[in-house]
Amino acid sequence: MIVTTKQLFEQAYGKYALGAYNINNAEQTMGLFQGNMASKAPFIIQISKGARSYTNKLMLEGMIRAADQIFPDAVFAVHLDHGDEATCYDCIESGFYSSVMIDASHESFEENIAITKRVVEKAHAKGISVEAELGQLGGVEEDIAVDESNAHLTDPKQAAEFIEKSGCDSLACAIGTSHGAFKFSGGQGLHFEVVEAIQKLVPGYPLVLHGSSSVPQDEVERINKAGGALKGAKGVDPNQYLPAAKLGVCKINIDTDGRLVWTRVYREFFRDKPEVFDFRPIGKVFMEEYAKFIASRNELLGSAGHLNEVRAALK
Ligand code: G3H
Ligand code: 13P
Ligand code: ZN
Repeated sequence: MIVTTKQLFEQAYGKYALGAYNINNAEQTMGLFQGNMASKAPFIIQISKGARSYTNKLMLEGMIRAADQIFPDAVFAVHLDHGDEATCYDCIESGFYSSVMIDASHESFEENIAITKRVVEKAHAKGISVEAELGQLGGVEEDIAVDESNAHLTDPKQAAEFIEKSGCDSLACAIGTSHGAFKFSGGQGLHFEVVEAIQKLVPGYPLVLHGSSSVPQDEVERINKAGGALKGAKGVDPNQYLPAAKLGVCKINIDTDGRLVWTRVYREFFRDKPEVFDFRPIGKVFMEEYAKFIASRNELLGSAGHLNEVRAALK
């Protein structure tokens, strides 16, 4: 059952956060649904611009529609990750997405509000939720690279004004995380005081954390042992997910960790089975491992076990 992020956030606020997981192909899609069903969690599927053009945007839609049929008990939102204005309109027009992110965080404050407001008007007319972003994360997303030292934390007062003027349904805040596998390179940590201050100004309003992969060290070690070169890879402490959720963070974005699962599975497989050249045995291992990973994250996010209650509330 496809629902909006707004509907999911109303159920989760202050109790747990929804995992927002990016997908690119069929194996990830299957593993994602299996992991969420095994842990009985509602969830958010994220589709980036890069994912939409990797095979074809219709291929991704088709896979998600199929998964919805294969797993009829699943409850999830279909969300555009880091959209520009044109891509947001394309997703809104498609009639498939239940949620879009307009990321104009690199624009001036006023321009960010103006662009977000235009997207909100079009999306809300079709019952679609809108996430916006204020402040700048470090790291690389799509084709924009932001040096960590140039990343700007979200200003809580500006956040309150932005929410009121733009009408967005949720706001991604910069609190020290960055995209990718090499976080906190400047030695700085998570700025929970920013989230606390925003929650005080806009109580009940759903916040979003990007760049939240935990980059498990055992995964990095296994990748490096199997020929990888991910020296110094580091992520967010996943034990911080639930404390963040209690402060109004309703959506936690995890993409890089899934890529690490993929890299570890494939590197070890080809190292240990040089005689195999069939993609199905290894694809099956990946789906199982990714499903296990998703279930483990949902436990840490607190979303595990909430599926039945959310379905009953949203039916
Ligand atoms: O924020 C970026 C997400 O991890 C998506 O990555 O643009 O390479 O698909 P991508
Ligand atoms: P990670 O790179 O930490 O997985 O963040 C993903 C993200 O924020 C997608 O929008
Ligand atoms: Zn992001």
